[in-house]
Amino acid sequence: MHYRRLGRTDLQVSELGYGAARGAAENLAQFIATVHAAIEGGINFIDTAEGYDGGESERVLGEALRGHHDILVETKHCPYDSYAPTAAYVGSPDKLTAAAEQSLRRLQRDRLDILLGHGIRTVETLDRFMSDGCYDAMVKLRDQGKVRFIGISELSEGDGTHEVLQRAVPTGAFDVVMLTLNFLLQTAADSVLPLCLKHDVGAIVMMPLNQASKVSGLVSVPAALECVRRHIAQGNLPEEPPCTEPGLLDFLQPYSIPEAALRYVLSHEVSACCVGARSPERMRENLRATEQPYLDAAKRQRLHDLFGGISKQIL
Ligand SMILES: NC(=O)c1ccc[n+]([C@@H]2O[C@H](COP(=O)([O-])OP(=O)(O)OC[C@H]3O[C@@H](n4cnc5c(N)ncnc54)[C@H](OP(=O)(O)O)[C@@H]3O)[C@@H](O)[C@H]2O)c1
Repeated sequence: MHYRRLGRTDLQVSELGYGAARGAAENLAQFIATVHAAIEGGINFIDTAEGYDGGESERVLGEALRGHHDILVETKHCPYDSYAPTAAYVGSPDKLTAAAEQSLRRLQRDRLDILLGHGIRTVETLDRFMSDGCYDAMVKLRDQGKVRFIGISELSEGDGTHEVLQRAVPTGAFDVVMLTLNFLLQTAADSVLPLCLKHDVGAIVMMPLNQASKVSGLVSVPAALECVRRHIAQGNLPEEPPCTEPGLLDFLQPYSIPEAALRYVLSHEVSACCVGARSPERMRENLRATEQPYLDAAKRQRLHDLFGGISKQIL
């Protein structure tokens, strides 16, 4: 495992992180075994949120991480009334502070390593978050020593302009941001990552597999081709060869689609890439992507030529 600097936090984080969004409520023992497989593989960075699995992700992580105080945990508070892209902003400093206290209890810690505003989806609501006391509440938690570092994540189904992070990163207000980057939505590589480097903000990647399900996502050739088909249907890719060819992604071999997708992300100057997995075997499979070299220049260029023009995420 390689470790990278998380921007101005100066923390050293494993380049592959564990995205603990799914699995805690489903099968507790398996979730804990997956967390332990991650730690055995050298992962020291775990992403969770108050809302993942209705709080179970944080609670079970608290159990799994007893005695593992060196593992860095990032959690998030969502200032909207749901995770839907159209959700209404309902942020308040009191709610944010109460949520952070609750996260501390669930995680069984006396300090949160990183607290993010979760899924900030418009510039207008970013401005509200910054001016209505929510941001000040985060700073106060940091000053009190209850939180070490603060930041925001963008909306997972955001458009590829990343306008929220383009506005937020240069303000200097945040230590860490979480952004979408995968080979079907490459725009953050040019629009957000250079800003993170310039302002020394830690860049954590989410959705490296394009929020995979069994039918679509960067988890298998059929699921990846289904994403391509959906992009063609939306006019984001041309309905002509090579996009319409079944062998479109053969050039990624010898890697599987998920391994190529993780290697694609890791070949960028990001601090870490968080990927979800619900079993120790899946976790160990994904850990293979950390063996360098990540993805050669020819494969990266081909991915850029094929998909670099896509500026909308389609799940
Ligand atoms: N706005 C935000 O802040 C935000 C939004 C989205 C995500 N995130 C974070 O980013 C993390 C990653 O995103 P994500 O969970 O949406 O999507 P993901 O990690 O891109 O995909 C996870 C899915 O891919 C499957 N998978 C993983 N590795 C695989 C492999 N090698 N082969 C086949 N299938 C594989 C998993 O299946 P199994 O579960 O069956 O193993 C799981 O269903 C999340 O866990 C969360 O921490 C943050």
